[in-house]
Amino acid sequence: LKRLPPPGRIAYVDGLYVRHGEAGVHVEDRGLQFGDSVYEVCRVEGGCLCDLDEHLGRLERSLGEVAIPMPMSRSVLTVVMNEVVRRNRVCNGLIYLQVTRGAMRRDFQIPGRPRRPTLILTAHELDQAAIARRHAEGVKVVTLSDERWARCDIKTTQLLAGSIAKTKVREQGAFEAWLVDRDGFVTEGASSNAWIVDASGRIVTRHLNHAILPGVTRRVVLEAAAALNMATVERKFTPGEAVAASEAFMTSSTGPVIPVVDIDGKSVGNGRPGRITGLIAEKYSELSRNRLK
Ligand code: PDD
Repeated sequence: LKRLPPPGRIAYVDGLYVRHGEAGVHVEDRGLQFGDSVYEVCRVEGGCLCDLDEHLGRLERSLGEVAIPMPMSRSVLTVVMNEVVRRNRVCNGLIYLQVTRGAMRRDFQIPGRPRRPTLILTAHELDQAAIARRHAEGVKVVTLSDERWARCDIKTTQLLAGSIAKTKVREQGAFEAWLVDRDGFVTEGASSNAWIVDASGRIVTRHLNHAILPGVTRRVVLEAAAALNMATVERKFTPGEAVAASEAFMTSSTGPVIPVVDIDGKSVGNGRPGRITGLIAEKYSELSRNRLK
C-alpha cells in the first residue's frame, strides 16, 4: 500500500480554501496598512471549537465598535470554521479568524459606505507537551509599561506594542509580559488576562473597561470560581501585590489556565503552581468540555 502524503495546511481567504503557503490578501488591504481589522483565536479540542458562542459574540462586538460588517452570518461562519479545522486535521490546537475592512486605495479616512470585508481563517495544532509542562511547572512573567492604545477592549490586530513587550520578556526567560498602566496597576498580559489570589483566598482580576480585553477564558474562569464557591473580586492590583500574593495565574484561549510562579524574578507563594489555580484549571476544563461545538 502506498502511504498518502501528509496533508498540507489550508487557509480560507475570502470564500476560497487555498494552500497555506499560497494564501494572500490584496496589497492595499486595510488590515495590512492600518491594522484596520479584528480577530479571534479559538481553542480546538478533539476537533471541536471551544467557547464558540462567546468568541462569535466578542467578534460581533469588536466589529461593531469599529463599524466593520460581519462577513457572513454566525451559522455560516461556524460551518466555515469547522471546515477549516477539518481540512487541516486539527485535533488539539487553535483556529485563527481575522476580519479586515477590506481592500481599497490607501486613505486615512474610513469610507462612509461599508465595503466587502476580508475574512481569513487558519488553523494548526498546539504543542500539547509544552502546554502540559507549563501547567505542571508554571511560568515566569515580567512587568513592562503598557504602551498599547486606549481601546484594548476591542480585539484588533494592532498588536505591535504587545508583540514587542512579549519579545523583550522572552529574552529574559519569561513566558509572558504583564503590562502596567500609568498609575502603576497591572492591566493584563500581552496576550492573556492576569490573576492573583489575595491573602484571604479571593481570586482577583482587573475589572472590565477599555483597558483590557474581555477574555473568553476570563469569563469562564469567573464561572468556574462561582461553581466552586470561591470568592472573586474584579479590581486593579499592582505588581507589588502580585509578588506578595499566595498564587498567580494567567488565562487565554490557548493557555488556557497557566500558573504564574515568578514575577520580575521573585517567587510567588512557594514558587510552585498554586492549589486554587489547579482547582480553577480543572473546573474550567470541565465547563468548557461541556460546551464544545
Ligand atoms: N489572545 N488579553 C489579550 C491582550 C489577549 O490578546 C488575549 C488573547 C486575552 C485572553 O482572551 P481569551 O481568553 O478570550 O483568549 C487577553 C489570543 C489568544 C491571541 O492573541 O493569540
